Amino acid sequence: MKRTHTCGELKTSDIGHEVLLNGWVAKRRDLGGIIFIDIRDRYGITQLKISPEKKSVHDVALSLGNEFVISAKGKVVKRESINKNMPTGEIEVDVDSIEVLNTSEITPFVVEEDIKAADDLRLRYRYLDLRRNSLTSNLVLRSKVYQIVHKYFEKHDFVEVETPILMKSTPEGARDYLVPSRVHNGKFYALPQSPQIYKQILMVSGLDRYVQICKCFRDEDLRADRQPEFTQIDLEMSFVTQDDVFEMLEGMFFEIWKEIKGIDLKLPFRRMTYDEAMENYGTDKPDLRISGDMKIVDLSGEAAGTEFKVFLDTLNAGGTVSALKLEGKEVTRKVIDNLTEFVKKLGIGGLGYIKFTSEGVQSPLAKFMSEETMNAIKEKSRAVAGDTLFIISGERKKALTALGQLRLRLAEEFSLTDEGRFEFLWVTDFPLFQYDEEESRFVAEHHVFTMPKEEYLKFLDSRVREEVESIRANCYDLVLNGNEVTSGSIRIHKSDIQKKVFDIIGLTDEEAKQKFGFILEAFRYGAPPHGGAAVGFDRIVAILCGLRSITDTIAFPKTLKASSLMDDCPSEVAPSQLEELGVQLIKKQG
Ligand code: AMO
Repeated sequence: MKRTHTCGELKTSDIGHEVLLNGWVAKRRDLGGIIFIDIRDRYGITQLKISPEKKSVHDVALSLGNEFVISAKGKVVKRESINKNMPTGEIEVDVDSIEVLNTSEITPFVVEEDIKAADDLRLRYRYLDLRRNSLTSNLVLRSKVYQIVHKYFEKHDFVEVETPILMKSTPEGARDYLVPSRVHNGKFYALPQSPQIYKQILMVSGLDRYVQICKCFRDEDLRADRQPEFTQIDLEMSFVTQDDVFEMLEGMFFEIWKEIKGIDLKLPFRRMTYDEAMENYGTDKPDLRISGDMKIVDLSGEAAGTEFKVFLDTLNAGGTVSALKLEGKEVTRKVIDNLTEFVKKLGIGGLGYIKFTSEGVQSPLAKFMSEETMNAIKEKSRAVAGDTLFIISGERKKALTALGQLRLRLAEEFSLTDEGRFEFLWVTDFPLFQYDEEESRFVAEHHVFTMPKEEYLKFLDSRVREEVESIRANCYDLVLNGNEVTSGSIRIHKSDIQKKVFDIIGLTDEEAKQKFGFILEAFRYGAPPHGGAAVGFDRIVAILCGLRSITDTIAFPKTLKASSLMDDCPSEVAPSQLEELGVQLIKKQG
């Protein structure tokens, strides 16, 4: 039964050799007596040929169903009809004997590359879906990236430390997953949203350079790039500046891309401040692969010269009139209607447009403006015949954000994204706080341990909303092709600054002590300056695999409703388990 080869490696140079293959029956075809079987393992597929003259093995072959596990012995021969699409497509194995290692029931769906089964069924039988090479190859690539990352950080003297999975609940950002304690009835552990607090404490301990590829757990709304449990490459370094952290991570990305893609990334990566990103791209994670770049053009000055009431009212209220230019594309009425619907769903009143043609302009706005104003708009946006401007007016942040979304929508509609490129971008200088209108209080944009930039320290004592909102932090994201793939900051290591930050978010001394007392205490005993980041491991792997969602980079993912269909989790537990934990269920309304 010991195999001589895998099912993905036999070539013409093996012709004439006796081989033994193990694997699953992927397909069986009976062609006028000769039986062909595709045998599959994680390395590939090889065609087996069983001629009717070999009666006993032919009988066994006839009994085989899909997904039976077999061991086949025979001689490698040249194929009559060569299949250039298969790595083993030039040979087949002329089989002398087959041993059935196990049978299989009829599977709920046919395991084939061009899968037709519904997503839920595939997740329910994930182990069958994982027999497909397109899925397993994601896991193989993931494992390779894992090894590269470990080696890279070892080379740079990082210490891998496993931080606790059962920790104190300190919710910030997402909701915690809670674990009731049996020993301490009425008390709960939380699963870590990230090892943030522990890694900072490790810096206080003098570990100097920490890294961990770790699981994080967040009970939040899920999307294609968000799973409730996901993996981070988490790191922290002492005595560093932002540039040191960037350099370390750029080196890691360089090695990953070199080994996995054979690409030499251009270092250092581009940088842009948060304010620049918002102003030019209407998002803090701009996709720089879009042809023509398509930056936002501020037309507020020009719009002030029109007689269009919507624009004038917006400008009077302190808002903006801004536009995106689509270069040289035919824009139909239907497309404009769809785009208008799109922006309306984003809470924008309407979408203005100006089409520049060789015969002049086409625009419902033309009647509200002089030729001079129209020319000024054309000049400001550097439009030429064939271009179309899409204009949005409104409250500044809302209008810019809508333009950012419209930019992506236009890129999709007109296929403007160069999918073959990898565009890395550091976005820096994020705001430290955001005002939460619902809660009527400031919240930390990244997390409460992020260091404000030196020049803004003076505003930590202010309670004027504009001043507090203007505070910029030593906080950064790495964006890759429009996805946030890394986030981090230089941390506060001085207790007076930390206290001021807590004050601004409305955390009293007592609350701060209750929630973060242990870290504040640790910081009193010589906390070094430190900073770090965490890389979204699943997101990186998804991009390397060319996937839009992280689901298929994870062996056993959860659905968008945070359940695992294969093991039916979450599930109810026995009343005795609840009793032991001192937990009683209450019926939730609605
Ligand atoms: P942050 O919360 O930004 O920072 O997370 C870091 C990176 O993790 C990825 N990520 C996710 N991936 C999949 N599913 C999710 N639900 C999910 N949430 C986040 C993103 C993100 O950029 N402790 C800080 C880091 C630090 O300051 O050092 C943190 O966790 O790619």
